[in-house]
Amino acid sequence: MKTKLEELKTQALQEINNASDLNALQELKIKYLSRKGELNTIKRGLKDISPEERPVIGEIANKTAEEIEEILNQKYELLNKENISIKLEAEKIDITLPGDYIPYGKQHPLTSTINEIVFIFNKMGFTLVEESNSPEVETEYYNFDALNFPKDHPAKDMQDTFYTINASNLLLRSQTSNSQIREMEKKRPPLRVISPGRVYRSEAVSSRKNNLFHQVEGFLVDKEVTFGDLKGVLNEFTRHFFGQARPTRFRTSYFPFTEPSAEIDVQCIMCSGKGCRTCSGTGWLEILGAGMIDPNVLKGVNIDPEVYSGFAFGMGVERLTMLKFAINDIRLFFNNDVRFLEQF
Ligand code: DAH
Repeated sequence: MKTKLEELKTQALQEINNASDLNALQELKIKYLSRKGELNTIKRGLKDISPEERPVIGEIANKTAEEIEEILNQKYELLNKENISIKLEAEKIDITLPGDYIPYGKQHPLTSTINEIVFIFNKMGFTLVEESNSPEVETEYYNFDALNFPKDHPAKDMQDTFYTINASNLLLRSQTSNSQIREMEKKRPPLRVISPGRVYRSEAVSSRKNNLFHQVEGFLVDKEVTFGDLKGVLNEFTRHFFGQARPTRFRTSYFPFTEPSAEIDVQCIMCSGKGCRTCSGTGWLEILGAGMIDPNVLKGVNIDPEVYSGFAFGMGVERLTMLKFAINDIRLFFNNDVRFLEQF
């Protein structure tokens, strides 16, 4: 029995030494040390040997078990350490590598301009139009008729305005002025509203014109509103938008929904004199249209023009942005070329 135990020990040590992973080690533990394991099988023979020998052999058997267990534990430690270092090696992070590049997003220049315009008018007490009162798909009534456009006005022509195919009285609005009517229909004066948005016109695309562009509309209706109020508000706007007290010029003009009407110019911001490319040498840049709201328009929305008066204005966002940043082609706003957009 003693020899058997010694043989078992030698074999066990060898196999444990050769074990290459923790699973194999676990199996060896079962093979040698479990209740049904090989050591216990030998120990079961103890009952057949003489009582004098039994404690001696019994002690050797226990020692053998202890030794095998000890070696198993040592090997376990070793394999476990190896395992951890393999894992650490595999999960190694090189903290000297540069970080992943996440591009830095920026606001589109047209959005910035719109926000700036709205901000300036907010400060003067104008509030943002209700979105539902400023739809881009509009009826002929709100885009033209209610704004006092004569029935045969050339702007209503298919060549200037995009009409929808199946419902011919629906169109893509050609101006944000539709929001004046919708707001005034639903609300009573005093009103001070600012209304930015997209507008559409059927034009040949060029460096100065696009089928889609943006306008900001504004209007004010109250008792005793005068053209002087309009001038004051617009001068204040240009002062803030162009960043300095810049002379403006009010030229008489015509819009169906205002009377009198004016176009407003600011002194050229890049003027290089006679041959100036920005203002064609005139020294002035047109930036918006405006006027006193026509009594007919007020009557149409049930506001008594004998009691109330108001002014309105509309400006092109692309034009203002181009002037402010010396951009020479309107199409740059719509191409989504990051080399352009990154500059703002
Ligand atoms: N709707 C005009 C256009 O698109 C711009 C305009 C002019 C708006 C005068 C106004 C205004 O509110 O009073 O050309």
